[in-house]
Amino acid sequence: MRRRRVHHHVGQKPTKTRRGWRIALILAVLLLGGGGILLKLRWHAWFGNAPEAPYTIAQEISRVTLTPGEDFTQARTLSWLCGEAPHTSTLLLSRITAKGDTLRPRAFTPSAEVIASRSGKGCYYQVKLDSLNRGERYLYRIEVEGARPYSDAFSMPSEAPQTNFIYLGDIQDPAVAESKRNFDYLRRSPEAIDFFAFAGDQIEGPTDTYWRAWYESIGALSGEVPILATPGNHEYLKKGFARELDVRWVRQFGYPKNGPEDFLGRSYFVDFPLLRFIVLDTTDIMGLGSIRQHRSWLRKVLGESKQPWQIVLFHHAVDCVREGRKNLVMHYVFKDELISGGADLVLQGHDHGYARATTRTSEGDTIAPAFVISSASPKVYRNGFSSVHDRLGSGLQLYQRISIDSAEIRYASYRFPQPIEGHRDSIVPEPRRLYDSIVLYKGEGGLVRIRDYARDLPERFEFNAFGTDSKGRKRAAQYAKEVRDRHEAQEERIRAKK
Ligand SMILES: [Fe+2]
Repeated sequence: MRRRRVHHHVGQKPTKTRRGWRIALILAVLLLGGGGILLKLRWHAWFGNAPEAPYTIAQEISRVTLTPGEDFTQARTLSWLCGEAPHTSTLLLSRITAKGDTLRPRAFTPSAEVIASRSGKGCYYQVKLDSLNRGERYLYRIEVEGARPYSDAFSMPSEAPQTNFIYLGDIQDPAVAESKRNFDYLRRSPEAIDFFAFAGDQIEGPTDTYWRAWYESIGALSGEVPILATPGNHEYLKKGFARELDVRWVRQFGYPKNGPEDFLGRSYFVDFPLLRFIVLDTTDIMGLGSIRQHRSWLRKVLGESKQPWQIVLFHHAVDCVREGRKNLVMHYVFKDELISGGADLVLQGHDHGYARATTRTSEGDTIAPAFVISSASPKVYRNGFSSVHDRLGSGLQLYQRISIDSAEIRYASYRFPQPIEGHRDSIVPEPRRLYDSIVLYKGEGGLVRIRDYARDLPERFEFNAFGTDSKGRKRAAQYAKEVRDRHEAQEERIRAKK
């Protein structure tokens, strides 16, 4: 009996093991198969890019771009595109006097480089201008053999230490219409700004057609107002582990080469009298090497800054607002680094929605850094409702005005005006539509505190692209419920305050 039991036991064991192996094998095949199918379906979105249509570049000065050197108060770089082969070129720079006269020009010889992309090539010129004077206005004239000269002007910041700029999240507008109208609106705004900050994904994809569309949108502003931009994933030709930034980026935007060793001209910082402005190319912060390089560089540039304020700009947010999205490296590695390093304001993109989060003391007081995500793109995503964000929004096209003086950073987000029915290109004269407003100020012991001036402003959730099938309707109902719950909680807070 006993022997039989033993025999029975021994006889069953290999059957169980075989069954286990069979199940494991089936699961592995299913997983591999499923993974393979998913990879095949999503390969293009995750790693690839649409083909670039063949193009030619005329012998015509275009895409003139003004960027700052490391010292914002005295250095600029100008770059432009002209033709497909290097030609003799000169940049003439004259100071414009207070009376409007131009003084005798200084001549600069730009460098020229032919950049070949997938389906064409273009010659990019670049010239570095330093020892410029604060408070002065400069006229420049670009000459390239065989092309019509191009002239424009830019102003250096005034002697006053204040800095004012506009930050835009993703612009991504392949049809040009909305972004052109929005840039025209900003151009007509009476308030002077020192620069634009773009948080990545200016374009739909790395092709000549999309760059042409982007320069058409921003118009002459790109050669008049300095641009501080970070690349986003849409400026990358290859994504994932074999990532590769579009070849045009570094030549178009002549950023200071003060970033981590392998990311020169992509991650960088610019110094202002009261502000160090730090830019991280987060699409390339993926492998261990780039994480390590960026982390130690960020620690160093935050730590060594002598300015009272630190603003950091990048594409992939530390706490996403797009539903279901998580940028693990940014969240688990760089969020703490930004907090402990003393960043005050962090400007982000990628999620095509709006969110603002603040850091809190153990008593619940709001302190720096404030983390913002914004978007100016007509492409909108559904937001999540994480409690980490103090303020949310969806389906909006926004721009942010940020003013810095020694005591405060004043941050305000506005909705771009909508076109009048039947007049899509006109700009509607209407009061600004404030969407968010905070002030960062130095409190006791140098702790940077945050005042929230948007508590009484209703949040807007205008995303509605759920689809009409039953799944879409279910999602829409769930979203509407979450919006209602949030509105009720907000109204409750306002009532309690009154
Ligand atoms: Fe993006």
